[in-house]
Amino acid sequence: MADVERVVTAADNHDDGGTPPVTQSFLPRYENDTEALRRAFSLFPSGVVALIARTNGEIEGMVASAFTVGVSLDPPLVSCAIRRMSNTWPRLRNASSIGISVLAEGQGEIAREIAGSDRLRRFASAPLRHVGSDAVFVSGAPVWFECTVHAEVEAGDHVVVLLEVIGVGADPDLRPLVFHASSFNQLLARPDIGQTWDDD
Ligand SMILES: Cc1cc2nc3c(=O)[nH]c(=O)nc-3n(C[C@H](O)[C@H](O)[C@H](O)COP(=O)(O)O)c2cc1C
Repeated sequence: MADVERVVTAADNHDDGGTPPVTQSFLPRYENDTEALRRAFSLFPSGVVALIARTNGEIEGMVASAFTVGVSLDPPLVSCAIRRMSNTWPRLRNASSIGISVLAEGQGEIAREIAGSDRLRRFASAPLRHVGSDAVFVSGAPVWFECTVHAEVEAGDHVVVLLEVIGVGADPDLRPLVFHASSFNQLLARPDIGQTWDDD
């Protein structure tokens, strides 16, 4: 691990009492180096979602990678951390429901476009569809959630939005786009390292 000084190796401290060997190391303190933090955050792989809705007669949307599923099953909640400076969120949050599309591996350009600063070109090429409510979705996405805003929690320079899932669709044959180290990637199936995880 780069930047971590190994001080003591304690592998031989393992006794039969069940205590696992623990290596003592030195981890640099975080000292307001936002760039280093941003880089470290970027190494956590995530999916990319488009949040889109029709509000006041306009289609509004943005892209987010700070999106988490499985926040709660009952009620069904997902979450998204949104920059407090976002111009789009204050408009999106007024919609009766928001469409969240998990973008597919071939939709990197669409992600860039929807995240772009030119609001008029955000949906220039994204294939959009709606389901009769305010929620708008990107066609060809492997997962769709229709959501309402459940709660908004201030979190520093972001707001963590808890969204209640009121509609869901999925196509397991489509693969998601993966955002890692500030670039778009694809999942690679590796049957040799095990494909399933059995919870037994
Ligand atoms: C791959 C990617 C991931 C992003 N993730 C987030 C995110 O998690 N939260 C966020 O607020 N903005 C995120 N953005 C930026 C927004 O999509 C959008 O560009 C930004 O909110 C500026 O637009 P706005 O002022 O209209 O909101 C991301 C952009 C890209 C390209």
